[in-house]
Amino acid sequence: MRASGGWRRSLFCLPLIFFITYLFPVLELHQYSNIEGLPRKHNKKFDHLVLGPAAGQGLHDRLQCQGLKALNKTHFSTLSNISNFQDTISFVTVFTVYNTTLPARVNDRSSNLVTVGNISYDKVERSMAILDVFINFIQVSMPQSNIIILTDPASKLPVHRNRVSVLPIEGEYSRGKLMLQRIRSYIDFLQRRLEEYSQRQDHVNHYIFTDSDVAVVGNLGQIFHNHPDFHLALTFRNNKDQPLNSGFIAVKGTPDGILRAKAFLQVVLETYSTKYMEASRMLGDQLALAWVVKSHPSFDVRRFSRPQAFMEEIHGASLLFLPCAVYNWTPPEGAGQFHGMPLDVKVVHFKGSRKRLMLESWNFFNSTACSGIADMLCLILKSGRTKYDF
Ligand SMILES: *[C@@H]1O[C@H](CO)[C@@H](O)[C@H](O)[C@H]1NC(C)=O
Ligand SMILES: *[C@@H]1O[C@H](CO)[C@@H](O)[C@H](O)[C@H]1NC(C)=O
Ligand SMILES: *[C@@H]1O[C@H](CO)[C@@H](O)[C@H](O)[C@H]1NC(C)=O
Ligand SMILES: *[C@@H]1O[C@H](CO)[C@@H](O)[C@H](O)[C@H]1NC(C)=O
Ligand SMILES: *[C@@H]1O[C@H](CO)[C@@H](O)[C@H](O)[C@H]1NC(C)=O
Repeated sequence: MRASGGWRRSLFCLPLIFFITYLFPVLELHQYSNIEGLPRKHNKKFDHLVLGPAAGQGLHDRLQCQGLKALNKTHFSTLSNISNFQDTISFVTVFTVYNTTLPARVNDRSSNLVTVGNISYDKVERSMAILDVFINFIQVSMPQSNIIILTDPASKLPVHRNRVSVLPIEGEYSRGKLMLQRIRSYIDFLQRRLEEYSQRQDHVNHYIFTDSDVAVVGNLGQIFHNHPDFHLALTFRNNKDQPLNSGFIAVKGTPDGILRAKAFLQVVLETYSTKYMEASRMLGDQLALAWVVKSHPSFDVRRFSRPQAFMEEIHGASLLFLPCAVYNWTPPEGAGQFHGMPLDVKVVHFKGSRKRLMLESWNFFNSTACSGIADMLCLILKSGRTKYDF
């Protein structure tokens, strides 16, 4: 599209972006209904899909879209070819629901209902729906993998799906402590795996710890296949204060990998508890991760400025740094990045007010209007700068 060069140059020029937005109204929407053009006011939150222009049009290595049709075949068409790596992969996510007592929930219900497709959800149902869609995408993209949900023993999650197990781990799962507890649960989980290994060592099972508001859209087995020597992998972006996102951590499933990854997470936990407790509600784990990595004497932070994977030995662990652009892609919001979507994107992260988009994306993917993951990625690319009602 003509505007792409302008988009990139005007990164810091908000009025121009508003102007361009105004000039490029909705593209073709065809069968997929209930969608409107990009809003002029970015602070409004929407209760339905809103599409704007797709970023990265005209860039040869970015997904090209015409309406909601992808012009590029992405790696997905070759999925079947690479899905038979030998090692098993398990996704691990920490998930808990804060189930208010029934009378409070009934009073609350009508004022907090949101509707996606034909279904209305209250707050608890909404987070369960996100978990469900998280599972759906993994089962489409990596059908051989398992999913393990670490949860508060008190939350009694009603999840009954194939290849999905719920593992209660004691801890303090209150909202304010959740990110701290999450690292503790990861460490506890890895400790249990080590104990299992000492009993039987049949085959390797790798672990990928993620937030549950992500859609896995590509095969992640190739991380372990292409990088045989790492213990723990993190995703990075070119962001001075928060270069590392804690929403995606891969651990090599060998005894050595598990042991060293666990020891590294213990250093992060210690840093969190001693330096970032005041931030414990949301960002403490990311700040602690960044501190542990950046304060390592041999680490060169300039490596975060180029989106290319690299390795570094820190606290006895071989860390693999993977670019967020591919392994933890977040829809651009406001005046953020306008570089579009790499053709080999593997994980889309619906951070912040984008949970609706996650559910809408699944519904679109599962509708007749969509011919595959790449079309759905066009929808996400065009809609990602919208803020939604949840
Ligand atoms: C993606 O599709 C566009 C439009 O058809 C094409 O010009 C471009 O070469 C494709 N990119 C790749 C990497 O195949
Ligand atoms: C896909 O699989 C076929 C048969 O198993 C193999 O010959 C081919 O090299 C594979 N292609 C890639 C790109 O891995
Ligand atoms: C469900 O949604 C479709 C459009 O997405 C609409 O045509 C249909 O009437 C809805 N059904 C109900 C029962 O609301
Ligand atoms: C929340 O509580 C309701 C009513 O007690 C129960 O039916 C539901 O299964 C609970 N949900 C979760 C996720 O625990
Ligand atoms: C996908 O769509 C079909 C047909 O509309 C529906 O029956 C099914 O429940 C959907 N699957 C999921 C997992 O949403």
